[in-house]
Amino acid sequence: MIDKVILWLKQPIGIVALLIAGVALLSVAGWGIAENQKTPEQPIEFPHKLHVNLGMQCLYCHPGAVKGGSSGLPTQTKCWGCHQQIAMKGSELPKLASYVENNEPIPWVPVAIVPDFVHFRHRPHLAAGLNCENCHGDMTKVNIAENPQVMNMGWCLDCHRVEAASDEEKLIKLTDCGTCHY
Ligand code: HEC
Ligand code: HEC
Ligand code: HEC
Ligand code: HEC
Ligand code: HEC
Repeated sequence: MIDKVILWLKQPIGIVALLIAGVALLSVAGWGIAENQKTPEQPIEFPHKLHVNLGMQCLYCHPGAVKGGSSGLPTQTKCWGCHQQIAMKGSELPKLASYVENNEPIPWVPVAIVPDFVHFRHRPHLAAGLNCENCHGDMTKVNIAENPQVMNMGWCLDCHRVEAASDEEKLIKLTDCGTCHY
């Protein structure tokens, strides 16, 4: 059986079939990536656009971005601080109220995330003068957080190379495997 397949693959028509199969596989992989980057549904439809345009600072809700490694997502208590007084249209306020009543954390679905074996901290990036927008896009334009970047190794390295420019020492450090992987 396997011999027959190999023989068939040696025929020109077999090669064509292989190419087609290859292209099909690639587009499936492409679809998989696009699917992963899709905006997830959140437990409460939180409009970033509206809140940011009201003048609220990113760090008010994501203080960890400067304090710790993780920016963190706001708890129901933080929302309730305002929304106990401010009514919300639609079906979102009862949802929020129910999380508060049950003292249950809101199960936000992560959007911006790198695997555990990657060492990322916000602090050095902000210290170097980067803005939230450089990596997360313009949050004044979105409702539920979208991830405009594919946060893969190439993305990190591309920026690190640009940042280091002709500084050899910096380039070595920012592209060293151990800088991002333990
Ligand atoms: C250099 C790029 C970069 C900049 C600048 C940046 N972020 Fe991030 N952010 C990331 C990456 C990468 C992750 C994923 C981290 C992880 O999975 O551990 C992330 C994760 C997050 C998360 C998800 C929750 C968490 O803590 O992991 C929030 C919220 C966030 N960033 C907010 C901000 C805010 C607010 C700013 C500006 C003060 C900011 N980020 C600036 C790259 C950046
Ligand atoms: C500093 C005060 C403040 C905080 C904190 C706050 N909000 Fe709001 N929120 C507002 C204001 C003001 C409005 C506009 C109300 C209006 O237009 O009637 C609003 C509107 C909303 C709306 C309705 C949007 C619409 O279509 O009318 C939702 C949903 C919402 N907030 C969710 C949240 C959630 C979830 C949190 C916590 C992560 C939160 N808010 C934290 C002040 C706040
Ligand atoms: C009133 C609170 C509030 C403010 C202000 C706010 N955010 Fe958020 N942010 C949230 C909530 C709630 C979520 C989780 C729901 C979602 O992803 O839409 C979130 C999610 C995010 C995420 C995705 C994190 C993840 O789960 O991976 C990023 C990135 C982010 N915010 C960046 C910003 C930036 C940048 C600003 C300022 C321009 C900002 N936020 C202002 C409440 C806020
Ligand atoms: C938009 C540009 C940009 C992106 C994207 C970016 N970085 Fe950085 N990164 C910087 C800058 C700038 C510094 C600070 C360099 C310096 O020390 O001057 C830095 C520093 C670091 C450091 C600290 C190095 C030290 O001093 O010890 C680590 C770790 C790091 N980045 C990891 C990552 C990872 C992981 C990603 C991808 C998930 C990433 N970075 C994406 C620009 C970026
Ligand atoms: C600036 C940060 C950074 C540096 C430097 C870096 N990596 Fe990564 N690496 C990442 C991120 C982010 C991921 C996870 C996302 C992905 O798979 O692309 C990753 C993923 C990986 C993976 C897993 C790939 C997979 O498909 O799951 C391997 C293996 C790896 N890196 C090896 C290395 C080696 C070897 C070096 C040194 C030559 C290196 N990395 C340098 C950020 C970095």
